[in-house]
Amino acid sequence: MKVLAVGDVVGSAGLQHLKRRLRHIKQENKIDFTIVNGENCAGVGIFPQQADDIFAAGADVITLGNHVWNRRQIVPYLEDNKYILRPANLAPQAPGDGFGIYDTLGYCVLVINLIGRCEMAFGPDNPFLAADKILRQMEGKYDIAVCEIHAAATSEKLAMGFYLDGRVSAVYGTHTHVQTADERVNPKGTGYITDIGMTGPVWSVLGVKPQQSIAMFRGDLTETFQTAEGECALGGIIFDIDTTTKKCTDIKRIFYR
Ligand SMILES: [Fe+2]
Repeated sequence: MKVLAVGDVVGSAGLQHLKRRLRHIKQENKIDFTIVNGENCAGVGIFPQQADDIFAAGADVITLGNHVWNRRQIVPYLEDNKYILRPANLAPQAPGDGFGIYDTLGYCVLVINLIGRCEMAFGPDNPFLAADKILRQMEGKYDIAVCEIHAAATSEKLAMGFYLDGRVSAVYGTHTHVQTADERVNPKGTGYITDIGMTGPVWSVLGVKPQQSIAMFRGDLTETFQTAEGECALGGIIFDIDTTTKKCTDIKRIFYR
């Protein structure tokens, strides 16, 4: 089974690029299941129409991250639609779900959306213990498991990759928006990459107009960040998973400008 994960879609330019490219990428790589992180579609957060657009572009599941609540209009959508996930280790009363099981080629694919804590908000529960709990709770109900860790710290993502090695088929990072070159299959068979990158404007600072980012770092008075426009790239990862052994047999990084 070939699983594609696409990095954080940033702004309307990123969304347009996804709409233009995703079908073709799926066809070219014979993808069976596609996960897209959509938490930066509205710069910060995502509107329901944008989630609809990501599904129409070819996503099977949308994942989110630290900006999940920035556009509150998404709250009823999260409660109604089981194909969009928010981080699983948020407070238990948070709307929506943090994991789900999706039928693909006759197999049950468990997708887990986690958020890190290192250099991020203090609110979420421990993502490592959350992963344990979910895997225990869902034991026997899924065939293949894939885990996204939306986190800032490379160390936290790497540790998660080893923690879940041999327990899930793939672990990948999102949030830092710059694709890392460390894709590999860990010793016990879990495909891993620290960050899959973003889908958004190339000439930007993580999606934001460079001059605004520079102004912030200079200490100038700044305005609300705006997403950059122009040429875009789509970053992602493809995991080839053996449905018998559940191990990742091949991993391929993609970057479409
Ligand atoms: Fe994020």
